[in-house]
Amino acid sequence: MDIGIIGSGRVAQTVGGKLLDLGHTVTISSRDTSRAKDLGAMGKLPSADEWAAAQRADGADAAAGSFAQAAAAGELAINATAGAGSLAALALAGASNLRGKILIDLANPLDFSQGMPPSLSVCNTDSLGEQVQAALPETRVVKTLNTVSANVMIDPGQLGEPTTIFVAGDDAEAKAWVTRHVLREWFGWEHVLDLGDIRSARGAEMYMPIWLRMWAATGASALNIKLVMV
Ligand SMILES: NC(=O)c1ccc[n+]([C@@H]2O[C@H](COP(=O)([O-])OP(=O)(O)OC[C@H]3O[C@@H](n4cnc5c(N)ncnc54)[C@H](OP(=O)(O)O)[C@@H]3O)[C@@H](O)[C@H]2O)c1
Repeated sequence: MDIGIIGSGRVAQTVGGKLLDLGHTVTISSRDTSRAKDLGAMGKLPSADEWAAAQRADGADAAAGSFAQAAAAGELAINATAGAGSLAALALAGASNLRGKILIDLANPLDFSQGMPPSLSVCNTDSLGEQVQAALPETRVVKTLNTVSANVMIDPGQLGEPTTIFVAGDDAEAKAWVTRHVLREWFGWEHVLDLGDIRSARGAEMYMPIWLRMWAATGASALNIKLVMV
């Protein structure tokens, strides 16, 4: 499948690499594909151009382009941009390039303006997922994967037992397709919980503050929760 990833940060490169391993064609994207990413204490990431060239050298079908080029190229699109820039990035991607397509939204509306830990720029009565869906009314937005770190998104099996991943969205068929193909078959998620329509992205995004505290308390970013019921 042709998959367009809006963004070229750690998530875009991690998820993109997994999708290439699975044999898909992947375009990652940036406002400047030649600029390497400086993550401060977290090190550096290759530029989108360098990443795509390295993947092609390994025989994978990878490209780097603008947000609009990735959106146009993808039969399936993924929003992997910083929450603070997601609406601007998706505007550059272009509603017409995303019309009728499934857009997996794994972004979190983190606000780092007051330092660490970040707060949420939208919560309680609204969410980034809803704002993305409202900005792209003809796109089938599925909120998922935002509650785990990039490495866990693509390899939940590393946690040693099945844990829970959420989906939210207004389009039931799109959620079912993402659940069956992307989450179960491609990434290996066994326990997928459909929270409901896109408004349920609020809960999935408001989980971020406790995720950040669990990360700080344990020092482990490869962590997740498991829903247990009687
Ligand atoms: N890192 C994780 O493990 C993890 C886990 C779960 C969810 N998430 C969420 O996934 C998303 C991606 O995270 P990340 O760590 O890969 O990278 P990130 O640094 O949060 O986002 C990088 C991407 O966002 C774009 N961007 C930032 N500000 C922008 C703006 N004002 N306008 C347009 N584009 C803008 C950048 O575009 P340029 O390339 O043009 O600079 C870049 O491609 C975030 O929403 C994050 O909260 C991350």
